[in-house]
Amino acid sequence: MTRKEFLQTLGVSAAVLAMESMPGASLVEAATQQMVEGENKPLPKNTERLRFGLPDQEAKVMKPVTAIVIGAGSRGSVYAAYSAQYPDSLRIVGVADPNPVRRKQMAKTYHIDDNHCFNDWADVFRYPKFADAVIIATPDNLHYAPCMKALAFGYDVLLEKPIAQTARECTDILHQARKYGRIVGVCHVLRYAPYFRALKRVLTEGRVGDVISVQHLEPVRFHHMAHSYVRGNWHSSKQTTPIILAKACHDLDIIRWLLDKPCKRVSAFGSLSFFTRKNEPDGAADRCLDCVVEAKCPFSAKKIYIDRHKYLYVFDSLPKDQMAKDAKLTEYLRTTDYGRCVFRCDNDQCDHYVCNLEFEDKSTASLQVEALTSYGGRKTRIMGTKGDIVGDMKSFTLTEFLTGKKYIWDEDISKLPGYEGHAGGDWGIMKDFVLAVANQDEKYLSSSIDVSVESHLMGFKAEQARLKQKIARL
Ligand SMILES: NC(=O)c1ccc[n+]([C@@H]2O[C@H](COP(=O)([O-])OP(=O)(O)OC[C@H]3O[C@@H](n4cnc5c(N)ncnc54)[C@H](O)[C@@H]3O)[C@@H](O)[C@H]2O)c1
Repeated sequence: MTRKEFLQTLGVSAAVLAMESMPGASLVEAATQQMVEGENKPLPKNTERLRFGLPDQEAKVMKPVTAIVIGAGSRGSVYAAYSAQYPDSLRIVGVADPNPVRRKQMAKTYHIDDNHCFNDWADVFRYPKFADAVIIATPDNLHYAPCMKALAFGYDVLLEKPIAQTARECTDILHQARKYGRIVGVCHVLRYAPYFRALKRVLTEGRVGDVISVQHLEPVRFHHMAHSYVRGNWHSSKQTTPIILAKACHDLDIIRWLLDKPCKRVSAFGSLSFFTRKNEPDGAADRCLDCVVEAKCPFSAKKIYIDRHKYLYVFDSLPKDQMAKDAKLTEYLRTTDYGRCVFRCDNDQCDHYVCNLEFEDKSTASLQVEALTSYGGRKTRIMGTKGDIVGDMKSFTLTEFLTGKKYIWDEDISKLPGYEGHAGGDWGIMKDFVLAVANQDEKYLSSSIDVSVESHLMGFKAEQARLKQKIARL
């Protein structure tokens, strides 16, 4: 039985579909293929492979940590599925979600007592504390209130990114965590992926000397942009957060982590240039199913959801039978925002964004978030005093200036269970969060809440700099 089949037997359909359709999952597939090929390929002269080893994702604890899932959607299901794989590490004992399909599915999968199934996050706190932790995976505008409440109730918290919608709310959460002495793990899952851990390790070992500069690209991919930031949940920067946080708080966090020093100044440019009414083609209609030029449009909802079956985890209760599934998807495209023309949505997220960062020691980083790419996978170049690194989230190559010697990291993450989502980051963070809660020690987490808040502040400052057309200081 494959891992996917195993999870399907548990009814973790949202998680499976999320993993199938998320950028992280396809990256893993691509990475696996590349790495297997890479392993068989003889290396060129003066080149060595870096092998750091891949840890088991299971958190070894005396008794399972218990957790309540608040928001049983795609992310909540992915984190809960850790409990299906490692029941001795984590037990899900409560769920809150107004969506009855998702709530019931999670209750059934994890045998959750009826008394601990709630319609709304606030209902969880009408009961005395009944678990070690809560996992907050609600929409962006519902992170702050449940997190503040959970901390006051004495729960440790695994909190989806972005932490909150304003800089003030982020620092409130930091202060609340300190006030009540609780652990908050922010889901900056990339930090827990072997690729980024290997990058961090070679920098910490000083293999490229002092880092002078970083160039980092987040290629969103045109269909992912259309799905999430034009039609979907994050189409409005006001209802969620600006794309520099909604999408790229991971990247700001990674840059801050790799450079390991405070950021002092930020400038930013960017705008919504393409996904606007003025760019709609002649013959466009409100919905792709009614559009006479749909066949010529790469952003067509019909192409993305019905023909290519991407991002289907957002649609509940899809039948297994192909014809019935397509009929249900057609109905969804007639009734939900996912069927709308990308040039006629109420979106305001930038489709290109350039952000420059200067750090305490004058080292610099540039970050680009780009909607119009055919490929995904973050691309990172690191310039140091003794060498440089070029990486693409599947592998990286470090070159020493003195010797010309190259070191390639391309470890195969396909061989161990638990490395599916976000290149291993999804369950990597679960492992470390469970260990942190079980041992009541936040040091198990790669990122403490202080550092996570700091990288969020970089994002809020970038947006301020972009809007005011001025350099912002931290
Ligand atoms: N770490 C990452 O890489 C990553 C990736 C994608 C999304 N996210 C973040 O995760 C969060 C969740 O995203 P998602 O894609 O899972 O969204 P989703 O819509 O699939 O899930 C959110 C769930 O919250 C539920 N909900 C809404 N109101 C609620 C309430 N009052 N009480 C309890 N539950 C409520 C919804 O019904 C839904 O099931 C977002 O903040 C998003 O930005 C993080």
